[in-house]
Amino acid sequence: MTPLVVVPPEVPGDWLASLDAECEVIVGLDAVPAPRLSEVVGLLSLLTMPVGPGLLARLPALRVVSNMAVGHDNIELEACAARNIAVGNTPGVLTDATADLTMALLLASARRLDEAASDAREGRWHTWTPDGWLGVSLRGTTLGIVGLGKIGYAVGERARGFGMQICYASRSDHPEAEELGARRVAFDELLARADFVSLHVPLTPETQGMINRDALARMKPGAILINTARGSIVDQDALLDALRAGRLRGAALDVTSPEPLPPDHPLFAAPGCLIVPHIGSATESTRRRMAELACMNLLAGVHGQPLPHAVVR
Ligand code: DGY
Repeated sequence: MTPLVVVPPEVPGDWLASLDAECEVIVGLDAVPAPRLSEVVGLLSLLTMPVGPGLLARLPALRVVSNMAVGHDNIELEACAARNIAVGNTPGVLTDATADLTMALLLASARRLDEAASDAREGRWHTWTPDGWLGVSLRGTTLGIVGLGKIGYAVGERARGFGMQICYASRSDHPEAEELGARRVAFDELLARADFVSLHVPLTPETQGMINRDALARMKPGAILINTARGSIVDQDALLDALRAGRLRGAALDVTSPEPLPPDHPLFAAPGCLIVPHIGSATESTRRRMAELACMNLLAGVHGQPLPHAVVR
């Protein structure tokens, strides 16, 4: 029997074309006629789709959830494991795009691009002045990378090129970090030393709220926080207070909690705060490769084979 899979309507159809030869594809769970829910064996999910016991109960034959993301905090892994449902993700293919965006945010914050561009656009650029829009030079400053996985490492490589010193905090030692001249330090030491703190840990119960009021207070005065990981790692109320008090020079957030952040959220108006709409992996080639990998995981799962990239086997 041809396996029935469900894909999200948000993914362009031609990115998922590899499914067509081997599966019956329905676009959107809502489009699956109720009697056919029990036939669905594969689900391609996005990070915006919570996958938990409620959804799983509607899909009794499900064999695989393939998340088109490296992060998988939207999926309740234990609930999947308890049902022997394999879970896949898309690591590797978005490393460079996300590291590039991290550097873009770091540079934009360091050089106040958002403020300078809107001043130029809105008539506040009167003349060149020696002390206009002064930012921070990167060479010789310290970047603290929280979580030295693939993306954290790729950010370190880029930062090296800008003459930054690198330290990292991680649960384990990374010998390869020597190539970056990077030193492993305790989280508190990183906060105290770094001029820029960049977050690259997954969202888990341990990392949720990791950048809380206490952590922000331990950061070097005038430091800049970059978050391209997950919004809930940062206590946004505490961040708002730190920015308003001028404790931090700035923050650049690709991710927030919730997403989207309502346009009237006070963080949008906080001094030095730059917010972009979760675009870390948003290059055309990257998103296509994520879709390709998600299809490979999905096809393996529906055929009962090991997933090329499994979070739950
Ligand atoms: C991911 O894959 O987890 C990223 O957040 C998408 O940009």
